[in-house]
Amino acid sequence: MLVDAGDNFGGISDPEKRKAEVILRGMGAMGYDALGIGEVDLNYGVDFLLDTAREAKVPLVCANLINYRTGKSLVQPYVVLKRGKLKVAVLGLIDNVLELINARQGTDSLVVTDPIQVAHELIPALKKKADVVVLLSHMGYAKSSKLAMEIPELDVLVTGHSPSVNMEARKEGNALGMMTGSRGQYVGYLLLRLGDKKAIATYESKLVPLDGRIKLGGLIEGFINDYNAQEKKLLEERSRREHEEALSHAGENRYLGEETCKRCHADTYEKVVEMGHAKAYASLAKTNSDGLSECLPCHTVGFGTPTGFTPASAVPDLKNVQCESCHGMGTSHKRDGTYRTAGEKTCLVCHTKERSPEFSYKTYSRKIAH
Ligand code: HEC
Ligand code: HEC
Ligand code: HEC
Ligand code: HEC
Repeated sequence: MLVDAGDNFGGISDPEKRKAEVILRGMGAMGYDALGIGEVDLNYGVDFLLDTAREAKVPLVCANLINYRTGKSLVQPYVVLKRGKLKVAVLGLIDNVLELINARQGTDSLVVTDPIQVAHELIPALKKKADVVVLLSHMGYAKSSKLAMEIPELDVLVTGHSPSVNMEARKEGNALGMMTGSRGQYVGYLLLRLGDKKAIATYESKLVPLDGRIKLGGLIEGFINDYNAQEKKLLEERSRREHEEALSHAGENRYLGEETCKRCHADTYEKVVEMGHAKAYASLAKTNSDGLSECLPCHTVGFGTPTGFTPASAVPDLKNVQCESCHGMGTSHKRDGTYRTAGEKTCLVCHTKERSPEFSYKTYSRKIAH
């Protein structure tokens, strides 16, 4: 069985919405058996989620999201899956953070009923129908764990919403709790062996890191490449339109490109272009990601800001992390000691926890000394 506890989508933007379709199609192709719903999955509206999941053949489960108008459950509350002679019930619950969901929806078309109450009613009932009951709990750790303690009929708890990880299953009351983190960094593995009266006799569990050792399947790689190529085309079209417009508003201040700096700082230039920063654009191109607006801000000079890099502009020399990424626009160059970086703060714009977990100013700045 392959399940997920929700929050698979990204932020509210057109590229992220298009990516959400690819994510669900990928999950469909991988044969997901049940997918819980998180509030982020409602970012592009209820209809988008339901239509895309249907097309992708991904079964959504959530027992406490109600359509306000019809009074019916928005999606099926649970699925019962057969594995050999066993029946496994998988239900989903989402935290009743109604304000949050409504704010994202911009509608009042959803009602979120109390997940605790629903769990107390539904889980004991499911245990009579199925041998194993799995809860996809989109409620974060504390609430999910407390719930598991209260309901002895629960066998497996998969906790979503929280980015934390447990490297192995953990006892939460009678249940085995799995917490597999965020951003597709791990997949959780849990093997159950049932004994007398179909109770869990023994189990094995681990988290498998989805790092470079795991190769993408051809189908999924195809989805990603198609998405990347489509984004590149859209970005090129858009930036051609927007580039001239942005330049006309830019005023005096602009990026000049490292070739300009080279004229007077040739020695520094020679050192800087030997660094990893000078390969930042190539790193994107290598993975076919050089058209993704989410990657370009940190791998080029000033993408997304006036006079910064755009794929359609005549400034290919703003590829990579260059002098002006750290020192600022060349037009603000003074020679009075004020054209400086902001020290560590300059780096942290790009060297975020997510993208550069090993970053330390002391060791990293030594590597770029020039
Ligand atoms: C505009 C974004 C950006 C800024 C600002 C930035 N970096 Fe980087 N840095 C990157 C990217 C992207 C890479 C990865 C390059 C690659 O290999 O593709 C990187 C890689 C590095 C590396 C490893 C590569 C190497 O040369 O050995 C070091 C060290 C580094 N940065 C130090 C710093 C320091 C120190 C600062 C601040 C003074 C800084 N960076 C500011 C984006 C940035
Ligand atoms: C917030 C800034 C930021 C964004 C956004 C960003 N990166 Fe990076 N990227 C970095 C930094 C910083 C490094 C260097 C990390 C280090 O060496 O500590 C890096 C390194 C890399 C590397 C080299 C890693 C290696 O080990 O060789 C690749 C490839 C890469 N990024 C691809 C991407 C892709 C693809 C995207 C978009 C999906 C992206 N990056 C978005 C900042 C960013
Ligand atoms: C990754 C960020 C980064 C990049 C890229 C970078 N610098 Fe620097 N540069 C620094 C930092 C940090 C210092 C140390 C002094 C400071 O904090 O301003 C520095 C110092 C300097 C100084 C010496 C200032 C002084 O007198 O102390 C010069 C000149 C300079 N950089 C020019 C350049 C030129 C020219 C380029 C491009 C060819 C370049 N830098 C690229 C971050 C960067
Ligand atoms: C026309 C020549 C010229 C060009 C072009 C030029 N610089 Fe400079 N730069 C200087 C001189 C001269 C100084 C002051 C003397 C010194 O310290 O080298 C200086 C100083 C600096 C400093 C030290 C800061 C300070 O206020 O003392 C930095 C950083 C710097 N330049 C970065 C750059 C960057 C980045 C570019 C490209 C956008 C650039 N320079 C382009 C001539 C130039």
